[in-house]
This record gives sequence, C-alpha cells and structure tokens, in this order.
Amino acid sequence: MHRHEHSANTTCGAANARRLKFPENFLWGTATAPTQVEGHVDNEWTDFIAQDGGDCRIACDHYHRYPEDIEWMSRLGVNSYRFGIEWSRLQSAAFAPLNQHELARYLDVLDRLRAAGITPMVVLHHFSNPPWIHSGGGWLNPQTVAAFVDYVGKLVAALKERVQLWNTFNEPDTYAALAYVLGAYPPRRKWQLGQFRQIIHHMARAHEQASRIIRRDGVATREPQVGIAKNWTFFHAYRRFSPWDRLTASLCHYTFNKFVLDAFLGGGRRQASTFIGLNYYGRVRFHHFSAMIPAGGAPVKRLQDFGFVCDDMMERYPEGLGKILAYFNLRLRLPIYITEHGAASADEQFRERDLLNYLAVLGGAIARGADVRGFYYWSLVDNFEWQFGYSKKFGLLSVDFSDKALPRAMKPLGEIYRQVCRENSIRLSSPDIHSPHPG
Ligand code: FCB
Repeated sequence: MHRHEHSANTTCGAANARRLKFPENFLWGTATAPTQVEGHVDNEWTDFIAQDGGDCRIACDHYHRYPEDIEWMSRLGVNSYRFGIEWSRLQSAAFAPLNQHELARYLDVLDRLRAAGITPMVVLHHFSNPPWIHSGGGWLNPQTVAAFVDYVGKLVAALKERVQLWNTFNEPDTYAALAYVLGAYPPRRKWQLGQFRQIIHHMARAHEQASRIIRRDGVATREPQVGIAKNWTFFHAYRRFSPWDRLTASLCHYTFNKFVLDAFLGGGRRQASTFIGLNYYGRVRFHHFSAMIPAGGAPVKRLQDFGFVCDDMMERYPEGLGKILAYFNLRLRLPIYITEHGAASADEQFRERDLLNYLAVLGGAIARGADVRGFYYWSLVDNFEWQFGYSKKFGLLSVDFSDKALPRAMKPLGEIYRQVCRENSIRLSSPDIHSPHPG
C-alpha cells in the first residue's frame, strides 16, 4: 500500500484558503455490520427484542438487496465500504468447511464492489457469534480462539484475491462492556468485570493469531493490512473538582480505553497490526456518578440545559478527535483509519454541522502529520441499532421500515457526503465549524 504525502496534500493553498483538502487516494467510505443490516441472521441477536420492540430478523434486508445498496454507494461517490462477514453463515460447527452458498454470496458482494471501484474493508467480528459459539460460553471459552482462527484461515484463503483491508475485531471494548458489564447486549450480564477482562484477553490473542495468518496467507497482489477498530470515548467529570466523578471517569478510561489498547497493541502485540482503526463519536461526562448522555438515559432537555451538544446517543466532542489522533500517532506509530463516525438525529442540519466539525478537526490533524488513510461514515443506511432498535437514525440513506419493500432514499446528509467524497475536501465556510485543534 502506498503511503500518503499528507503534509503536501492537506494544507489549504493560498488560492483556496477556505478549503481543506484531504490526501490523494484518501478512502472515503461508509460502514455497516451484518446483524444491523443484512437480516436473516442466526446468531444471539435473532431472538433479541430491542427497546423499541424491534428485532433484527429482516433489518434492511441487505442480505438480498446488496446489489441495489452498492448502486447507492456509487451514487454517494464513496470509494470504500467497510462491512462485516457473518461468521454464523459460514460455519455450522467449529472447524467445519465454509458454507459454499453463503461464501458465493459474499464473493458476489466483493465482485460488485470491485466493478463499482469501491475498496472493501472486511470486518471479521462485529458484536455477533454463531449460535454454537454463543452456547459454548462465547469469548469466555478459551477454545473460541482456536475456532475463530480456523475460520479466519479458511476465509482468507477464499477471499485473498479480493480483500486487502482486514478488520479483525470491531470495538472489542464495547462488545465486552455492553454484554458483560452493562447488560445491554446478549448474554446481558452485569458488572462481570473479570469476565470483561477475560474476553478482551481472548480476543486479543485471537487478533494476534488471525493477523499472523492474514499476513502470511492473505498475500495476493498486494500486502494485506490488518487491524482492530477501537472505539475511543473520552470520559470526563462534569465538574472538574468533583473527586467522585473524576474517579468514575478515570476508572472508565482505564478499563475501556487503556486496558483494551494495551491488550491488543501493547508490547509484542503491536507487531500483529499494520494499522489501527478508530471509531470515534465523542465524550461521556459524569455528574453525581451518572453518565450525561442520551444513550445512558439522560433526558435530552436536561443535557441541553447543561449546555451539552449531543446527538441522540453521545455528547459531541470534535476536538477530542485531534487529541486521540495525536496520541495514537505518538504511541502506536501505525497508519490510522477512522473506521466509524456518525451522528443519529432527525435533524439533518445538525448532522451536517457535526460531520463538517469532525472533518475539519480530522483534516487539521492530517495536515499536522497524522497518518490517516480513510474515513468511514456510520452508516450507509438507517438500521438496527442493537438495544435501541430502529429508533436511532444514523443513515446517509433512509429506509422506510413501515413499507415491506424497505425503500431507500438519499437523505440531505447523503448529498453533503457525496460532495465531500467527490471533491476530496471540505469547505471551511460555516461559522459553526470548529477550527482544528492542536493535538
Ligand atoms: C458503534 C458500533 C456500530 C454502531 C455505532 C453507532 O459502537 O460499532 O455497530 O452501533 O456505534
């Protein structure tokens, strides 16, 4: 993979002072996950009923409609697509051969992407497991590591001609926390911090072994690239001098950021990855021990009274992106992909401001030397947002879930993103846009 000449391409030229250009060959993409869009999955989410009463059984029916969805991607002008391959479709038992019918479908997805000039980034684990893994204890069971590595080996042999970018685990921290600490994802356990740590250790071991196989056997025309996607959330105390809220924030930072990053990328493990994926949405502030975010149940009106800017999930904190990119650059010295950012809201103007604010910070960080190779908007379509069901609207495209035909339509933000992708730059004209922060 070529290296970007970031500093040469990202400064605003004098003749073009209000434009922030991104590096040549920058990947502008969008992202989805199998359970959230495909429908017809048989995993631990199949019987899960979300807070809005929804389930993932049909979702966006991307399983059947991927040709149409890839056409939509072409209309959006993205040159990359980050999507998951659902393990439960491909193996019926540990060490079983791959299901050829399901494999053929994924090969067709990849061929259509290639024909559309869209580079795939394949995610191997995104919050879901085959039923036989789940019933065997999931990632608490050390044997899951060998089963996963076997699966990855078979998949790599089948896909290596078509895939160069491999994302082993999506947000292992979120998965282990929501499933074993906060009780929101199956198996809905609470406060099992020992189990949280064990899952992270097993996944980190699986990442290391899977990476070795991908890098050894995945070579076709170009060197394969491998990394995890780490969700990074900033945890702060609302009042700087509240010792208890500061302690809560520090414990969260230690557990969900530092411990996880060390497990996957500390010491010798660093060699396993050729890039780091960063999923970045924003910040959680604590006030009297409670997390001040809509996703944690804090009333939006109350958050507004506090002066917080939030989408339907999290507090917005674009300047944090500059900080975390500087930290990753310094600590990891690996190429970075922003594997997810997005905002859920019915207010498209809010989402436009949000996107441009984050991209302004991103462009500024690249201009100062951060080696960022791509950005993936979460998400291509409105979809099944795990415990929240269909109530969170993250899509560049809408889906009318009340219509059996599940028609897609371009949203205003899709048009904005199309311009960004086509022009490989953003206009810095809005007074709302934050100036890029130093890291
Ligand atoms: C990330 C997940 C993704 C989606 C977005 C909103 O944590 O990776 O599946 O839920 O958040």
